[in-house]
Amino acid sequence: SYPARVRVVEVGPRDGLQNEKAVILLAAKAALVERLVAAGLTTVEAGSFVSPKWVPQMADTAELLAMLPAREGISYPVLVPNLRGLEQAMATGRVAEIAVFGAASESFSQRNINCSIDESLRRFAPGVEKALAHGLRVRGYVSCVLGCPYEGEVDAAAVTRVAAALAGMGCYEISLGDTIGTGTPLKARRMVEMVAAEVPVERLALHFHDTYGQALANILSCLERGVSVVDSAVAGLGGCPYAQGATGNVATEDVVYMLHGMGIETGLDLDRLCEAGAMISSALGRETASRVARARGAM
Ligand code: HMG
Ligand code: MG
Repeated sequence: SYPARVRVVEVGPRDGLQNEKAVILLAAKAALVERLVAAGLTTVEAGSFVSPKWVPQMADTAELLAMLPAREGISYPVLVPNLRGLEQAMATGRVAEIAVFGAASESFSQRNINCSIDESLRRFAPGVEKALAHGLRVRGYVSCVLGCPYEGEVDAAAVTRVAAALAGMGCYEISLGDTIGTGTPLKARRMVEMVAAEVPVERLALHFHDTYGQALANILSCLERGVSVVDSAVAGLGGCPYAQGATGNVATEDVVYMLHGMGIETGLDLDRLCEAGAMISSALGRETASRVARARGAM
């Protein structure tokens, strides 16, 4: 059976825009977030406090946060890799939620955050503790849950170990990242079943990139096992700077079209989502990667 309602976490302004080659004006980012909120999204991942040399597109996250109106019930989480990032995030006075990001593959961990998996968990711990002590919510990501760009197959036991460690630190939710989109439905479902033996399924989210066109099928397969939180990016923006060939996240419009078609509630307005996607696609000078937006645009 499927959940009656799915919470959609919009990651376009962070995961999407972090990998777009075009220069993105701050005003366009702020307008995008505004439109996403207007479409009904209550969680919009807005950026990250990482090295600007590694990810230049996120260097203006503090300025972006300052431009976003504070609204009851709306949160703008940011990625934070270390204490320094946490301090920067807290200094904005606008952050109620952060995310730490680990990986199930050693090579990806090295390329993405320059340390081993175990070292990353040791580095996250004090940041998570401090964030929780200040009343922030903390989410944990695990990358490469269905494959690694450097190592290929990834064992679900490795995913489970990192997910359990992040949950044990106090992450309220663990987002399972198919970073390079190589997963297929039965494999995705088995991975979720294995992780759910250690971390309750209510605390798991799906974060699937659509590189191989499998994301919707994989989501559906995992919803059947009780997951009810899905990360997506409007217009299917982006990719990952450390995962060659990765395309964007599954498009929010496509996820919402599928869910609504199944009678699953999201609280989101598909027309407004399509408008948000059209706006950012034109600001970037690219075509939307959302099939739904393309189909509706052509009508
Ligand atoms: P490092 O080199 O090991 O750390 O990098 P370091 O402490 O030696 O610092 C290196 C430089 O970064 C120094 O600057 C620091 O000052 C600076 P330099 O002396 O060279 O001028 N620095 C910082 N600057 C700003 N904010 C900070 C910060 N920390 C250090 N917080 C580090 C380690 C993690 C910092 C680096 O590897 C990094 O920034 N990586 C970025 C990783 C990233 O953002 N990846 C994309 C997001 S993850 C993702 O997309 C996957 C996900 O979507 C899920 C999925 O799809 O699977 C979440
Ligand atoms: Mg991602």
